[in-house]
Amino acid sequence: MATVIKEMLKNVDKELISEFQSLPIDIWDFKDEDVRFGTHGIHNYPAVMVYPISRKLLSIFKKYQPIKTLLDPYMGSGTCLVEGILADLDSVYGTDLNPLARLISRVKTKAIEPDILNEQISHLFYNLDYNFTELRKIIDKFDDYVRKEKKLDVTAKDGWGSNAVEITKEYLAMHNIDLYLPEISNLGYWFLPRVVLELQIIKNCIKLIENKDVRNFLWVCFSEVVRLTSNRRNGEFKMYRMDKEKLKTFNPNVLEIFMNTVQKNEQKMLEFYDAYSQKQKNTQVHIYNNNAMTLENIPDEEIDIVITSPPYGDSRTTVAYGQFSRTALEWLDMHETDSTEEELDERKIRAIDSNLLGGKIDKNMEFNLPSPTLREAYEQIKQKDEKRALEVYAFYRDLNESIRAITSKMKKNGYQCWVVGNRTVKEIQLPTHQILIELAEHHGNAYVTTLVRNISNKVMPLLNSPTNKTGQKVATMTNEHIVIIRKQ
Ligand SMILES: C[S@@+](CC[C@H](N)C(=O)[O-])C[C@H]1O[C@@H](n2cnc3c(N)ncnc32)[C@H](O)[C@@H]1O
Repeated sequence: MATVIKEMLKNVDKELISEFQSLPIDIWDFKDEDVRFGTHGIHNYPAVMVYPISRKLLSIFKKYQPIKTLLDPYMGSGTCLVEGILADLDSVYGTDLNPLARLISRVKTKAIEPDILNEQISHLFYNLDYNFTELRKIIDKFDDYVRKEKKLDVTAKDGWGSNAVEITKEYLAMHNIDLYLPEISNLGYWFLPRVVLELQIIKNCIKLIENKDVRNFLWVCFSEVVRLTSNRRNGEFKMYRMDKEKLKTFNPNVLEIFMNTVQKNEQKMLEFYDAYSQKQKNTQVHIYNNNAMTLENIPDEEIDIVITSPPYGDSRTTVAYGQFSRTALEWLDMHETDSTEEELDERKIRAIDSNLLGGKIDKNMEFNLPSPTLREAYEQIKQKDEKRALEVYAFYRDLNESIRAITSKMKKNGYQCWVVGNRTVKEIQLPTHQILIELAEHHGNAYVTTLVRNISNKVMPLLNSPTNKTGQKVATMTNEHIVIIRKQ
């Protein structure tokens, strides 16, 4: 049997540092760049690492090393994977515990032939038109039925808010319509009556599409539309509902929003397909539901480069990826999107955030992380608030595990590029870029360099209240660090 000889990587620290030093200081800001090029623009995701960062990093590293495999253990919406594909690597690996992130990543990385996509979309639009025309009166009268006949306030928590599934089923039965509905306990709290019906009709029509790649593409469009037509406050990652007054006048045209989204995304897919067509190689894409602290599906010592942006802190106090995705996940049948995906229920969806980095606090923990910088910040926070100190510790405890797991997947002399932000807790700054270096060195990595970037185009809450008192706001991150380390 022929043995496959792994290509060795050389230490190129000096060459890299000299190249980085020769670049303009603001090169990493990408202020005026269209960051939604191609499939990068098909779905919103919190704290996306804009694609020019990974594109630029890959182009530099490829000059000095024969990079063939890339891993992003916190892939989110799959930005780095797309760039790894366009950089003609052999294999790209991505993991994320958020099912919605995996769906978006699968769609973003799968180039669909334009003719096939267009034909299937035409089919879908034809079907939608037929169904919406047939059911128009029944759809339009549903709001009035709930308000006037059932005498329910559609903006209230109880009544429509908590019994939407039963009320909708009853209404449909009256009209002899058999329409499956998602079993979401507070469906009506998050969706107006007419919106529930319209979303479900669209969902049924998507289900009829046989081509799996096209269907998944449409699920991504649907996911975006579920969020946009829900009663959620727009532009928030957490689940906040619009206030009652706003809700009274909220009247989204679900079909129109959906069709516009599909058409916009078809263009985005076309841009990606064009770029994809110019590739020399067929890149293998591997997307897994792995914890970044274990990475069980990633082969050991196989990875040439890691480019990643981990969360800034735990979901509860920073960005809640699970909450951001919840409404869409409740509507989607995730297990039908890929053979590796399991069926989700409300309990599993609600548990996502607590499974992410720092989501589980150990009240009896003892500080034993190899980072003096973290210890100093931790002690200061502890003096002000013990519980917050424990939360902070839980995050870095998990980050440390993740660095250990990632390093075990790297080839010797493989580089890791970590894009991190330094957040403030209890008015004490946590210098994650420095903490990361100390933890990484402990796991057999050498520190190479740090690049700084201003985050003008990152979708992040720029202000928060570190004391959790309303009105007390301070500027949070305005810059990020790209920390580069090498496995020794
Ligand atoms: C800053 S986002 C990544 C954004 C991504 N770079 C992009 O461009 O879309 C961090 C991601 O880490 C994921 N995550 C957090 N903890 C994780 C863990 N323990 N294992 C795997 N993924 C995790 C979150 O679900 C989230 O998608």
